[in-house]
Amino acid sequence: MVNELTDLRPSSDYSPFAATYQHRAEYVPAVVDALVRVAEVRPGDPVCDVGAGSGHLTEPLLRRGFSVDAVEPTPAMRALGETRTHGHQHVRWYDGTGESSGRASGAYALVTFGSSFNVTDRPQALAETARILRGGGYFACLWNHRVLDDPLQARIEELIRDRVPGYRHGTRRADQTEVIAASGLFETAVALSGTEVFRLPSEPWCDAWASHSTLGHQAGDGFAALLDEIRAFVRAEAGDWIDVPYTTRAWVARLAGDGEG
Ligand SMILES: C[S@@+](CC[C@H](N)C(=O)[O-])C[C@H]1O[C@@H](n2cnc3c(N)ncnc32)[C@H](O)[C@@H]1O
Repeated sequence: MVNELTDLRPSSDYSPFAATYQHRAEYVPAVVDALVRVAEVRPGDPVCDVGAGSGHLTEPLLRRGFSVDAVEPTPAMRALGETRTHGHQHVRWYDGTGESSGRASGAYALVTFGSSFNVTDRPQALAETARILRGGGYFACLWNHRVLDDPLQARIEELIRDRVPGYRHGTRRADQTEVIAASGLFETAVALSGTEVFRLPSEPWCDAWASHSTLGHQAGDGFAALLDEIRAFVRAEAGDWIDVPYTTRAWVARLAGDGEG
């Protein structure tokens, strides 16, 4: 199972997906609040946001008062993130990956992966996270999942499965408990989830499908045509605004032991 999922790991080059990424729905705020409470972090604490991309999680972390080092390997994504968080005082952007962040050992109270843990070699990323966390610090990973039993989303999912036979969601929808436990580096992970319906303008929501790397890699040459079909379907069924239920799922785990990371 793990190998099958590893094979589905999207390529780490997000350049083709950068332009439309910013149109994605935000993470459910109540889940981000709960994550912060579980991780026992306070405003001013140092947080490293890994695979920070266009700042989708970096920005909500900054709004909650943390001092954020954002690590992102794809220049086009990093540029968007820098622009989005421009004006925030307590943010610094770095080139780096989950496996090799380039950050100092024992520096952070919390290390986060917003929709990016699945693009890493997860055991290596956990080891690197343990290295840069301070004693008693926390790892957290989270994703936004479209609720697939929503009638409209169910039909989009049917369309995808029809055009991309054998389509798989990969590790981005997998339970992360086991891989965290297998590292032996963290205490038992706490799982959090919350669902909210987001009312979004349909066209940007359709644009954001172009940033779906898991689908893009499996659809291959058929990706553009599939996106056109999704757009035509949404225009016909939803009109200018679409109500999309998203569940934000998060796993939060404390660094094991009392010493330095
Ligand atoms: C799906 S985006 C998530 C962006 C943002 N964190 C969010 O919450 O929406 C995944 C990001 O991970 C980055 N990435 C790719 N390979 C990575 C790696 N090995 N380690 C860390 N991030 C990586 C990509 O460039 C991309 O910006």
